[in-house]
Amino acid sequence: MNTPSLPERGLHPARLARFAAAERERFIAHNPRSHALANRTARHWLMGAPLHWMNDWSTPFALHVAHARGAHVTDVDGNQRVDFCLGDTGAMFGHASPPVVAAVAAQMARGCTAMLPTEDAAWVGEELTRRFDLPYWQAALSASDANRFLLRWVRAATGRTRLVVFNGCYHGTVDDVFVDLVDGQARMRDSLLGQVHELTRHTTVVEFNDLAALEAALAAGDVACVLAEPVMTNIGMVLPDRGYWEAAQALIRAHGAMLILDETHTLSSGVGGYARGHALVPDALVLGKPIAGGVPCAVYGMSADLADRAAAAKRAAPPGHSGIGTTLSANMLGMAALRATLGEVATPAAHDRMNACCTQVAQGLREAIARHGLPWCVTQVGARCEFQFGALAPRNGSEAAALFDPALEHLVHLALLNRGVMITPFHNMLLASPVTSGDDVARLLAAFDQVLAGLLA
Ligand SMILES: Cc1ncc(COP(=O)(O)O)c(C=O)c1O
Repeated sequence: MNTPSLPERGLHPARLARFAAAERERFIAHNPRSHALANRTARHWLMGAPLHWMNDWSTPFALHVAHARGAHVTDVDGNQRVDFCLGDTGAMFGHASPPVVAAVAAQMARGCTAMLPTEDAAWVGEELTRRFDLPYWQAALSASDANRFLLRWVRAATGRTRLVVFNGCYHGTVDDVFVDLVDGQARMRDSLLGQVHELTRHTTVVEFNDLAALEAALAAGDVACVLAEPVMTNIGMVLPDRGYWEAAQALIRAHGAMLILDETHTLSSGVGGYARGHALVPDALVLGKPIAGGVPCAVYGMSADLADRAAAAKRAAPPGHSGIGTTLSANMLGMAALRATLGEVATPAAHDRMNACCTQVAQGLREAIARHGLPWCVTQVGARCEFQFGALAPRNGSEAAALFDPALEHLVHLALLNRGVMITPFHNMLLASPVTSGDDVARLLAAFDQVLAGLLA
């Protein structure tokens, strides 16, 4: 699929440049305290921010946050915005959910970390098993870590080294997965810094929704696992074809490989994640970001078979560090936050509210796009939706990447920020939380309509 030009998208470069200049000025005029703080922050943080990605927003300088509550973020200039980014999923159940705040405060007063479990660990293990239908779990501090650790367990358990991923995937900063298909060939991503290992040696990359390519990748019988999001969400959203996962699972099993589903984002599909909702049967599951209400924490679950083989590999190994785990993994604070989130925040009713709210958002976006005659599409999975700059929803990573237009994305994001709405700074994803209100949705849709008018004016 070739990348469509701006005029093919119904847009004209000179108009966009005028609109972009006006939006930059508007942003600078309305955010003087953020501007001053950004200058101070830049003096001692590498590349201007405590995490260099914080520069990836569309803004001339980083907004500095005063507080975030529910579905709203207020910056240091007192501007309140409706938040459909929600920390790119970390705050998917709403910022500062009262049960999580209370649990974290209470646990903090009782100690944060002791490298030992509390009573919460027993409850959380039982609840994870009940919800996600896998019997054995481990905790980590981030979804990146959880994926990294699972890859080690699976490689140790199967005695195989090869990993299969989908082109355009993202599973956090897990080195093994940064392999792209370029002109049909696997290539290590050239933006990686400091990578000294040739990642294509143990990673095979195939297009999503291509069963023949998956079968070919599995054919040699050396694949330990396929690591996948059940719906791709990081290259724009890409839905599986009808029947794709059933057939893919059968192929993976037939070749003695395992399926790890990374549900860090697709947890937004429903209370048991996308897998439970679609009767998928992974060997392992990763849940990060919002699983403890935004407190740094992730969990990963294993089938009984994988757990048996993983434990046997550990028993068979010489005594010493497994390379899996970190000192603060599974700390007492995270466990308290996990218990409060699973028990009181991420309830079935909350998921129902999020999904219904997102349906309103997706419908409203589609109507606005149609009203303005733009050749864009909207894809929704549960509480997550995305508008993409093409008339047809992409079927794989290459098609999705062809729809990217970073300059246009940044302009839309900046113009939305200027109108009181935040969406994810990477591509065009929006999340609804259980506390996102009808008024919040109305504000988004009014802003979106104005932004589309601005693009076309
Ligand atoms: C599917 C998926 N897995 C894992 C991660 C990594 O999460 P974290 O950055 O919290 O480690 C991300 C981050 O965006 C993700 O989208």
